[in-house]
Amino acid sequence: MPMLSERMMEAYRRIERAMGFGRSRQWLQRRLAAPTAKLDFSTEHRSFLLRNKMIRDALPERRCWILDVGSNTGETTRFLAASGHMVIGVEKFQEEYSEAVRKPQLGAGFLLAEVGSGFFEQAPSWDAILLLSVLHRIYASEGESVMRKVLEDCGKVAQNIFLEGSIRHSRYMDLGHEAPGFEDLQEASSFAWHKQLVDDCLGEDWKIIDYKSLPCTENEPVRLYFHLRKEVRVNGEELVG
Ligand SMILES: C[S@@+](CC[C@H](N)C(=O)[O-])C[C@H]1O[C@@H](n2cnc3c(N)ncnc32)[C@H](O)[C@@H]1O
Repeated sequence: MPMLSERMMEAYRRIERAMGFGRSRQWLQRRLAAPTAKLDFSTEHRSFLLRNKMIRDALPERRCWILDVGSNTGETTRFLAASGHMVIGVEKFQEEYSEAVRKPQLGAGFLLAEVGSGFFEQAPSWDAILLLSVLHRIYASEGESVMRKVLEDCGKVAQNIFLEGSIRHSRYMDLGHEAPGFEDLQEASSFAWHKQLVDDCLGEDWKIIDYKSLPCTENEPVRLYFHLRKEVRVNGEELVG
């Protein structure tokens, strides 16, 4: 077998366990034939910059402490730090993490760690947690229950959550897990699934403040953007957080 990155090896082993050698071999051949296994988010995701500006504009007008889960090479982490916030990006892969730390930005820091079911134990609280194109990757590698636990835990330590969800089944299934409970590539069905996920995991204190479908790529026409906020109640009255 050719030399593979740690990330490719992890994916390969999981597919081999789930589907057997033949399918995993096919998957590997497809990945090696692709021009690059690495995503270039700024060019592949048509709304990348727009999305980051929407998050920046929705944040409170003061310095916020933000956790960017699945920060990849740190584009969004640095973008929000450059807008005056303190932002920690968490990335599980060494290669992406190393690239992120090579580009210093005042207010941005990076953590090499996997966000899973135990990650938020004893965690501090955050003005905002970003879950941008990452919940489906947690589903893909760890399964739906771990993904739900991560969202539930975020709800306990964050005031705002910015969630970008995928409508494409293969993003959830490429490491051997079952399809999520919505129709593949159907925005309305995927929205309903994400809405239910948010209601189940975050509960009634959380509101959808903003929702948009954002143009994404040829293979995945849109991504679902949610700004979720925890409403503070005093004597039954809602106060904006
Ligand atoms: C599809 S990219 C999205 C990057 C970025 N959040 C964005 O939307 O621009 C997902 C990133 O999350 C990372 N990731 C996936 N699962 C993770 C986990 N459990 N903990 C930390 N990082 C994770 C991946 O390695 C990848 O860099």
